Amino acid sequence: MSNQEKVRHLVRLREQARLGGGEERIETQHQKGKYTARERIERILDEGSFEEFDMFVTHRSHDFGLENQHYLSDGVITGHGTIDGRVVYIFSQDFTVFGGSLSETFAQKVCKVMDQAMKVGAPIIGINDSGGARIQEGVKSLAGYAEIFQRNIMASGVIPQISAIFGPCAGGAVYSPALTDVVIMSDKTSYMFVTGPRVTKTVTGEEITTEDLGGASVHAVKSGVAHFRADDEEEGFLLIRKTLQFLPQNNLEDPPVMECTDPIDRVVDGLNDIIPEDPHHPYDVKDIIYSIVDDSEFLEFHRHFAKNIVVGFARFNGIPCGLVANQPNFLAGVLDINSSRKAARFVRFCDAFNLPIVTLVDVPGFLPGSAQEYGGIITHGAKLMFAYGEATVPKVTITLRKSYGGAHDVMGSKQLRGDINYAWPTAEIAVMGPKGAIEVLEGKNIAKIEDREQKAKYIAEKEKEYRDKTATPYEAARYGYIDDVIEPRNTRFRIIRALKTLSTKKDKNPPKKHSNIPL
Ligand code: HXC
Repeated sequence: MSNQEKVRHLVRLREQARLGGGEERIETQHQKGKYTARERIERILDEGSFEEFDMFVTHRSHDFGLENQHYLSDGVITGHGTIDGRVVYIFSQDFTVFGGSLSETFAQKVCKVMDQAMKVGAPIIGINDSGGARIQEGVKSLAGYAEIFQRNIMASGVIPQISAIFGPCAGGAVYSPALTDVVIMSDKTSYMFVTGPRVTKTVTGEEITTEDLGGASVHAVKSGVAHFRADDEEEGFLLIRKTLQFLPQNNLEDPPVMECTDPIDRVVDGLNDIIPEDPHHPYDVKDIIYSIVDDSEFLEFHRHFAKNIVVGFARFNGIPCGLVANQPNFLAGVLDINSSRKAARFVRFCDAFNLPIVTLVDVPGFLPGSAQEYGGIITHGAKLMFAYGEATVPKVTITLRKSYGGAHDVMGSKQLRGDINYAWPTAEIAVMGPKGAIEVLEGKNIAKIEDREQKAKYIAEKEKEYRDKTATPYEAARYGYIDDVIEPRNTRFRIIRALKTLSTKKDKNPPKKHSNIPL
C-alpha cells in the first residue's frame, strides 16, 4: 500500500468507526428520540474539542457468532475534550453496537479514560445507554464491570464523576452511575433498575412497566437515585455543563470563581417581612435563596425528591457554594429519612470538592412516627449530623425561624463546627416547639382543668410564656451559639462577608483510615 493509500485507508476506517453499528441502527436510535453516542459527546463538549481514544478497538470474542461481527470502537466512544475550556474525560456507550453492551475490550476503554482522568485530575463524564453485560462474553463482561466500579470508588472524592442515563441501564450496570457524584436521567427515554419487569414478575408476581419500575420520574421523585430529571437529552447536556461550572477539576483545587456583577451589598428589603406572623404558616425558602444568591442562579439538586429540604449550587460574589435549606412549604421543613439522606450526601459532596456550605434553617424537628423509627431515622438523621460535623469547608448557617431539638444541632450548628452562625430576629431556637413543651411541662395542670375554654386559655397563655422566654434567637446569642442576630434584608451581604473572611480557613480531622459514617 502506498503512503497515500495508507492515508486513504485511515480516513475510510475513521468513517467506518463513526458509523457505529450502521446507518439503520442510527436511524432507529433517532426514531426513539435519542442521539447517538458521538452526537452526545459533540453536544456536551466545547465545539471541536473532542479527542477520541481507541477508535480501532474491536472485541476479542470468538463465541456465538461474534467472531464474524466486528465494529470499530466496540460499543463505546471514549476520549477527552473541554467544557468551558476546562479538560474533561468522557465515555459514551453506543447502543447501535451490540446494544451498547459491555465487553472485555469495552471495559478496558472505559478504564483507560478513568485512569487518565485520575492522573490528570479532571472530571469524568459517563453516558449510559446499554443493554448491560455483553451476554456472549460471560464472566469477562462481569469482570469488566467490576474494574469500572473499583475505579469509580477510587475516584470518588478525588475527581467529579457525572453520569447521564439516556437509555437502558439495568442489572449490575446501575452501580457505576450509583457510585458517581451526580446522576442525570432523561425523561421517558431512560430507565435504571437492578431487576427488570420480566424477572420481577417471575420472582414476585408483581406486574409493572419499565417506566414505572425505573423511569426518570421514579428515580427523581421516589428513590432519589437520580439528582436530575431532564426533559430531554438536550437539557441533560446542559445540566452536565452547568454542574461542572460549580466544581473544581479535582479535590486539590478550589472551585472556579466567576466574575460577579450582582452587587455584593444588594439589600433585599422584602426579606424583612417574608416570615409569616403566624409561626404555623409556611413560606417558600426558595424565594429567599433566589433573592440572596448571585443573579438568582440556583442549580437545584433532587428538586422532586424529599422536598422538605432544598439543596443545590449557587454563587455568592462569584464563589461557588453548596446551599442547604429546610423547606417550610413541604411537610413544614421537617427532617425525615429521605431529607436526611439527601442533605447528608450533598454536604459530603460539597466538602469533598471544597465548596463552602451555606445553611438556611427553619426546622421544626424530626418527623415522628413508627414508619420513620422503623425505617431507621436514627441512623439516617445521624448521617446528616455526621456530614456536617465532619465537613472542614467554611460553614455559614443562618437560622430564619424554627430550629428545634436535635434538628437544631444537626443543621450546621455552632457545635458541629459551624464557623459563622447568624440568626434572623424571627428565629426560635429551643429544645422543642411551644406546643410540645407545654404538653410535657404542664400536662398534669392542664388535665386538672375541666372547662374547655379555660383549658384552651391556659394552654395559650403558657405557650406564649414559653415562646417569649425561649423561642427567640437572643437566648442562643447570649451564650455565643449564635454570632449575631442580623437584619434579614442584609443576609446576602453578611453571607458574602462571612465567606470572604473564611476563604483562608484551615481545619482538619484527626488522622484515620476513614470514618465510620452511619450508612
Ligand atoms: C449482547 C445485546 C445485549 C446484551 C442488547 N443487545 N443487549 N447484545 N448483549 N446484553 C443487542 C441485541 O441483540 C440487538 O442486536 C441490539 O443490541 C439492540 O437490542 P434490541 O433488543 O433490538 O433493542 P431494544 O428493543 O431497544 O431493547 C433494548 C434492551 C434489550 C431492553 C436493552 O436489548 C435487552 O433486554 N437486552 C438484554 C438486557 C440484559 O438482560 N442484559 C444483561 C443484564 S445483566 P441486533 O444485532 O439485533 O441489532 C448485566 C449484569 C451486569 O448487565 C453485572 C455487572 C456487575
